[in-house]
Amino acid sequence: MGNSESVVTPWEVRGEVDYRELIERFGVEPLTERIVNRLKVHAGGLHLLLRRGMFFAHREFDEWMDSYERGVKVILYTGRGPSGNTHLGHLIPWLFTKYLQDTFKCELYFQVTDDEKFLFNPELTTEQVAEFTKENLLDIIAVGFDPERTKIFTNLSYSKPLYNMAVRVAKHVTFSTAKATFGFSESSNIGMIFFPAMQAAPCFIHQYLKSEDAHVLIPCAIDQEPYWRISRDVAPKMGYRKPAGIYSKFIPGLGSGGKMSASLPDTAIFLSDTTKEATRKVKNAFTGGQPTIREQKEKGGNPDVCVVYSYLYSLFDEDDKAVSETYESCKGGGLVCGDCKERLAEKVGKFLEEHRRRREAARETVNKYLLRE
Ligand code: TRP
Repeated sequence: MGNSESVVTPWEVRGEVDYRELIERFGVEPLTERIVNRLKVHAGGLHLLLRRGMFFAHREFDEWMDSYERGVKVILYTGRGPSGNTHLGHLIPWLFTKYLQDTFKCELYFQVTDDEKFLFNPELTTEQVAEFTKENLLDIIAVGFDPERTKIFTNLSYSKPLYNMAVRVAKHVTFSTAKATFGFSESSNIGMIFFPAMQAAPCFIHQYLKSEDAHVLIPCAIDQEPYWRISRDVAPKMGYRKPAGIYSKFIPGLGSGGKMSASLPDTAIFLSDTTKEATRKVKNAFTGGQPTIREQKEKGGNPDVCVVYSYLYSLFDEDDKAVSETYESCKGGGLVCGDCKERLAEKVGKFLEEHRRRREAARETVNKYLLRE
């Protein structure tokens, strides 16, 4: 079992990811129907990303809901590394975080790791990272987080409180643990080695700033999990609750195999793409179709490997009946790939248009969200 070819670290995701195997490897729990239904009671409905299995694993999410039900203060924490333009894959945890914030009416701490991207990418200058940060902030705000309850900060501009917390974390983490967890080596720069303490810091920043007990939940993609292993280890040593987590899969790129990646721009849909660009990318996407229309009609397509179908299923088609009809019809040869591509392109276009509008409006509100020293 498992797939020894796949690599999943905070800096690299490669190969065909076997999520069941990843649950074992990372020591997280599968999101069971029981837990999902518990969330449903609070939310009054289930987010598409849950219904379609994009969020698949967790750590003590049920304990976090216990805390909420018992009146313990609950908090959300997520983040973004500003290494380039935002694409659809980045958006997934943010959309889900908004749903959780709306459901539990809780505060959200949103970390932008400008330090990380500078330290880890030999090519990037601080100026370039600052430019990405400015642009990415608009995408984050466009998601529609509650301005009264959301605090966004960048590590290089909100350093004092973060550094104060990070040194407390760092004191409990040995180099040998950092090496084993993140694969650092003798040639890693020393900023990289300290950085995990900076990403752990927001797990405890509310408690530190407000001097009150709180239970933190981190919605994010599964590749960030190693950070939370460290954070959970140090939490009790510092007198804090361990942060809980809820984890998503990656969305595939539009090509065959691999997750959506900014380094493969033709197979990624950027939030800055025009409708025309996005449509072109969708039209070139990898599908489960047969080489000719005749064969497609005779033999049917294979939606199980089709990227276009997976986007409709995981992200863009809310209608349960419509997606299952698409699936059956494709298999039976009743659909050709052009039909599905058109449907997806239209939905993507609409989504991007909406996003652009909200993103422009965000220019006026960005200061309301930003934490400064
Ligand atoms: N390291 C993350 C990235 O490169 C950014 C990040 C910081 C983050 N804190 C987080 C992501 C908390 C999810 C949750 O994208």
